[in-house]
Amino acid sequence: MHSNTHFDDEDHPEIVHTDFDCLTANGIHRRHFLGASALTAMGLFLSASPVAKAVGAAIQNKPSKLLGFTGVAASSADTFVVPQGYVAKRLISWGDPILQDAPEFDPSGAQPAAMQEVQFGDNNDGMSVFPLSAEQALLAVNHEYTNYEFLFSHKGKTTLSADDVRKAQAAHGISVLSLRRKKDKEWEIEKNGPYNRRITANTPMQVTGPAAGHEHLKTQADPKGKWVLGTLNNCANGQTPWGTYLTCEENFHAYFASTQKDTVLSTRQQRYGLNANNEFYQWFAHDKRFDLALEPNESNRFGWVVEIDPFDPTATPKKRTALGRFKHENAALVIDDSGHVVVYMGDDERGEFLYKFVSKQKYDAQHPSANTDLLEEGSLYVAKFSAADGEISGQGEWIELRHGAEGLGKQNGFADQAEIVIFAREAATAVGATTMDRPEWVAVHPNKGSVFCTLTNNTKRGQPGQPVGGPNPRENNVYGQIVRWRPQQGSHIDSRFEWDLFAIAGNPELKQGLYAGSDNIHADNMFNSPDGLGFDTSGRLWIQTDGNYSNTGDFAGMGNNQMLCADPESGEIRRFATGPIGCEITGLAFSEDERTLFVGVQHPGERASGSHFPAGGNHKPRSTIMAVTRSDGGVIGT
Ligand code: FEO
Ligand code: CA
Ligand code: CA
Repeated sequence: MHSNTHFDDEDHPEIVHTDFDCLTANGIHRRHFLGASALTAMGLFLSASPVAKAVGAAIQNKPSKLLGFTGVAASSADTFVVPQGYVAKRLISWGDPILQDAPEFDPSGAQPAAMQEVQFGDNNDGMSVFPLSAEQALLAVNHEYTNYEFLFSHKGKTTLSADDVRKAQAAHGISVLSLRRKKDKEWEIEKNGPYNRRITANTPMQVTGPAAGHEHLKTQADPKGKWVLGTLNNCANGQTPWGTYLTCEENFHAYFASTQKDTVLSTRQQRYGLNANNEFYQWFAHDKRFDLALEPNESNRFGWVVEIDPFDPTATPKKRTALGRFKHENAALVIDDSGHVVVYMGDDERGEFLYKFVSKQKYDAQHPSANTDLLEEGSLYVAKFSAADGEISGQGEWIELRHGAEGLGKQNGFADQAEIVIFAREAATAVGATTMDRPEWVAVHPNKGSVFCTLTNNTKRGQPGQPVGGPNPRENNVYGQIVRWRPQQGSHIDSRFEWDLFAIAGNPELKQGLYAGSDNIHADNMFNSPDGLGFDTSGRLWIQTDGNYSNTGDFAGMGNNQMLCADPESGEIRRFATGPIGCEITGLAFSEDERTLFVGVQHPGERASGSHFPAGGNHKPRSTIMAVTRSDGGVIGT
């Protein structure tokens, strides 16, 4: 979610001279980094050896064989730009009709909640394609949040009515869409398609796993603590091999507040950012469960990963509490060679953590129906990184958050396993996990040998509690980096891993040392704030950004938010697309043949004037999914 971090992202002091600049004199600079990267590419992981030792090792900067397109230039234009030989077309935008009797989008903002409930939601984010045949597929899409300035004709500048709140709630959630391929090979959305569905902040869903039925989840409307209305702030996503969609609840705290401004919140509530004076969404005024004074447990029912069966429009979504409660970004799922299901997850907040879930039961490829509850039970772990002073590679371990282990018990406030998953952040702090620079998406290489995570930025790095070092090597980190780890023996259930930084975003035209970025960053591919991340089946790593698009100061030369493609072996990164004014690029999914790439353009024009994307002219800007193809029909990226 851009909104809650936007001001911090923009309001950062100019970097003058930091401890890490000093370190450049002591042997850490861009060249050394590339040495480490190249060695990693050769399979010689630099676990404990100083980065400096890598200098002079086989530095390879060979052109990538994986990347077959011509990179695009940085852009500040109000368009979506793709490489030469590629075509990008609008697939669907916020407000488009998808269900029976849904009206066309009305740009005036006057349509009531009932209309939004049958239209495509706002701010599309993570998404997954579920193939049915060569001509048919499903597309499940998250709707992370909504912009009142565009949603309402009053632009949110007045007290909300009950219908306004209901409309905002309907702009959230998920859309499931039936996709059909036309004769000309282009995919289109089937209006009233058989799988079309809207899930909103008011759709009933079931709580499963260790927190189901717990005291902390009980409310007046749900005295058993097992049924929740809706899902919120659905950021990124995941997909299971048994055909379900995972949607991740991120900045849920912003929806809660109170008419009683002096409501005292517990330290646990504060740890999750809850604030009785939050005026951002104003839902509490008409939906009492969002009033922290009246319903203190309702907020414990959000911040989860939710599993949805997109093939059954009547299926009840399930909140999977075994995966922990935090500000979830995405859920990167891999079937370990042992058969256990492993899910990697980031908690996107400055100084929060990186998690891993391992299912208790094993995946059964022969019996799909045996897998439907694999996410109900398992172990939750949090990452602890280590490195010698000044190194940007090292080792790490996964620490289990289990009641009775690692000091997690009644003595430090955890009565049972349910309290550990509900207050996972506190448990992770208690076991000494590594505070990270805002972990966003995680992506597992298709060969399962390595895992990547975007650490988008962290302007508080270097402040108390967030020491500079390891995978978070820069104070006041305005650019972000991508960390990569390799599980010990290729086993995702092993507690040990080795790590390095695949890319350090920076501005080599303006900066020195680590702020210039790693050696795979140059004038033609500069970006900041890597966020969306995903692999195609050939192992190309696709990177999307949600950062500062001012194109000035530290960010000069970077232009609007963008999408890049990297070769994990050579380290090369090439810019693939640029977005319109004020947007972030988030959400990516391929058709089964990988000849169509769906890309999300989220919140064009947010806090930025001049966007009329996608319609142009004087039209209201709308979040949109683009379908990208090659004019010759080839595989994307080759
Ligand atoms: Fe929803 Fe962390 O981005
Ligand atoms: Ca994101
Ligand atoms: Ca982000």
